[in-house]
Amino acid sequence: MLIAHISDFHVFANAAETTVVRADAADAARKVIADIAAFTPKIEAIMFTGDLTDGGSSEDYALLADILAPIDVPMFVVPGNHDKRAGLRAMFKDKLPFEPGPFLNYEARFKDIRILALDTLLDGQVQGALSPTQLSWLEGRLAAPSSELTLILMHHPAFPSTMVPLDHMALQDGRDAFERMVVAHQGPIRILSGHIHRPFQTLWNGIFCAVSGGPAFQHALTLDPAEPEPTTVNEPYAYFIHRISDEKNVSIHTRYVEL
Ligand SMILES: [Fe+2]
Repeated sequence: MLIAHISDFHVFANAAETTVVRADAADAARKVIADIAAFTPKIEAIMFTGDLTDGGSSEDYALLADILAPIDVPMFVVPGNHDKRAGLRAMFKDKLPFEPGPFLNYEARFKDIRILALDTLLDGQVQGALSPTQLSWLEGRLAAPSSELTLILMHHPAFPSTMVPLDHMALQDGRDAFERMVVAHQGPIRILSGHIHRPFQTLWNGIFCAVSGGPAFQHALTLDPAEPEPTTVNEPYAYFIHRISDEKNVSIHTRYVEL
């Protein structure tokens, strides 16, 4: 089974909200979607880990819907800090089982994989958070042992990238409680995130985690902790293709797309 993991398209209909977003972000997004749609063997589902739009206006989501139109497979999304919950909920309300209430958490299944989508959006802030309400929701879903593979989708990584200027904007409030819950769960978990705008993978507490890059802009590799600010770089873009075997082993491949 092939699953695409994409993130951070930041498409905008009128003016970009984020200064570093490329002017042709919509065209770049269309190229990524075209690549996924044409890939063989067929990619059977897509995990989109946030920042679908740059400003979250109704015009932005209408543009996004047009960009995603070539896709005919299930898509599972979570909001990023540049999305707006109302617009994202309206766009996917017939496709995703959002929980009632303010947050866009949901539990879904694709074939024999369980998907837990976590809304880490903290209004007006670049960093993310999980409130006690959301942590309680997650705890209820991880309490029972399970042999099925659980994919947790969350825009803000709960695990360090080790790029200090970028980790300042990751998950903050609720991070320790989240870590305790996923470590205590008896069953296989993989965590998929975005937000960092640079692809990387890490083994964290024995859990495999992947951050997909964003075509809208990319951050430079910054492993010097003295580096104060993230900088952008013009490097080749790639999204991830997760190949999941019948035994639930996961191989993660980088798929480069000329933007
Ligand atoms: Fe982003």
